[in-house]
Amino acid sequence: MRQAPQKGQEWQAQSYARHAGFVAALALPVVDLLAPQQGEEILDLGCGDAALTCEIANRGGSVIGVDESPSMVRAALAAGIRTVRADACALPFGPRFDAVFSNAVLHWIDTPDRAIRAVREVLKPDGRFVAEFGGHGCVATILTAMRAVARAWGYDEASVCPWYFPTVDEYRQRLENGGFTVNYIELIPRPTPLATGIEGWLETFRAPFFAQFPEKDRNAVRRQVISLIKPSLCDDGGNWTADYVRVRFAAQKNGK
Ligand code: BEZ
Repeated sequence: MRQAPQKGQEWQAQSYARHAGFVAALALPVVDLLAPQQGEEILDLGCGDAALTCEIANRGGSVIGVDESPSMVRAALAAGIRTVRADACALPFGPRFDAVFSNAVLHWIDTPDRAIRAVREVLKPDGRFVAEFGGHGCVATILTAMRAVARAWGYDEASVCPWYFPTVDEYRQRLENGGFTVNYIELIPRPTPLATGIEGWLETFRAPFFAQFPEKDRNAVRRQVISLIKPSLCDDGGNWTADYVRVRFAAQKNGK
């Protein structure tokens, strides 16, 4: 059996905006949950191209973005946001923030307890941690199709899903163990229209899966995956809707 490659995900801000603009557009309720107050210092963890960071700033927050991707950091700086390139699990700040906000990032982190610890370390006492990310069952139809194709070609199914999609019970426990009180947490099914179809989604979010196949086979592999997904996620008009599920939560730091 062929081994799973590393995550190998690289972001390009322009391509992300074209294929995945919905990520920020559908997340305004998370900004509502954050409810930034005038003058609060807020960290946007994994700010990407800063679409939501700007929204937080417009609502009065004094916001700093953090992202690991050089392309995203450049895009966020170009949007006028103070931005630092850093690992989400090793944030280069003291306990200065009133709140940490994060959208569509925590499912990329396979050491969730380290991320929770890092967030806690940069929050003031009673500081808020408000976030949304992929939850249990997210993109299950897409993943099942990819697993079937990986298996048929003799590839490791572990290469299919690089994401951490927990249940709310699991994540609540991690937050509580990490020194937070959870004021709200919910698993939210959120069917997500894909403006550039399933091809754009696969290219944006799972290119490393296809890259492991020899170039001569890649189109056939892609066609097989898409033909398995199509009956479930594409309507008669050719419109694709991905089966997203989100975990949304608001927690508060305990103690100092
Ligand atoms: C997201 O960024 O929201 C996402 C990425 C991959 C799978 C599911 C969701």
